[in-house]
Amino acid sequence: MSAYFVTATGTDIGKTFVASGLLRYLRGQRKVVAGIKPVISGFDIAKARASDAGELLDAMGEAVTSEAVEQISPWRFAAPLSPDMAAAHEGKAIDFEALVAFCRDAAAWPGTLLIEGVGGVMVPLDAQHTVLDWMAALSLPAILVTGSYLGTLSHTLTAASAMAQAGAKIAALVVNDSGNGAASDTAATLRRFLTETPIAILPRMAGSADFAVLVTELFQGDDGKPIKN
Ligand SMILES: Nc1ncnc2c1ncn2[C@@H]1O[C@H](COP(=O)(O)OP(=O)(O)O)[C@@H](O)[C@H]1O
Ligand SMILES: [Mg+2]
Repeated sequence: MSAYFVTATGTDIGKTFVASGLLRYLRGQRKVVAGIKPVISGFDIAKARASDAGELLDAMGEAVTSEAVEQISPWRFAAPLSPDMAAAHEGKAIDFEALVAFCRDAAAWPGTLLIEGVGGVMVPLDAQHTVLDWMAALSLPAILVTGSYLGTLSHTLTAASAMAQAGAKIAALVVNDSGNGAASDTAATLRRFLTETPIAILPRMAGSADFAVLVTELFQGDDGKPIKN
């Protein structure tokens, strides 16, 4: 079994881009892979293909049907707000224990599973829990996606520090190039501070060849049975 939790320093940083790129690449390598996005806010069934669930299903080579979306994204909310707020808008609340149980069940399958989180590392899920509690409860290795934009260093080190304190292990850190020419300096700086963490850069408009490099840089030689089932 190998399962990874894909998190980020914030929303729109590249979790879905990284997860779907990895799924596509690994499928091309004939690996057995799946992706789930248990909690989605800002979800509109009329635009399901463009949603995170739609992106992941497409990357898995599966049709984007409402049944398929329901299977990989049981907690869907219309408002483009943090999950706790989006759920409250519908008079609902996310059942944290049920969310953890859903992910544990999904992670028990024999292939490689990527679980895309939601927002950043500490976005609230309900009145008491954030994504950090979700990661800690699952205790799966995390792929932390960050950018190279101005401000990312503090965001990334803060996220890494919070994760370390919570016991959420970062298996790999992806510096997803923000297109400002600072990706390699950003990665070099992060390597100085996060000496134990494998760190690699993902270029803009990354394609299969870039994901091949990423997987080699981040996961090769890791006997924690990473992304090579
Ligand atoms: N390396 C990249 N090159 C080009 N576009 C990217 C890259 N990473 C992310 N994007 C785009 O940026 C937007 C936000 O990325 P996304 O993966 O949806 O973020 P998140 O899942 O963290 O909210 C999407 O439109 C995505 O296609
Ligand atoms: Mg996403």
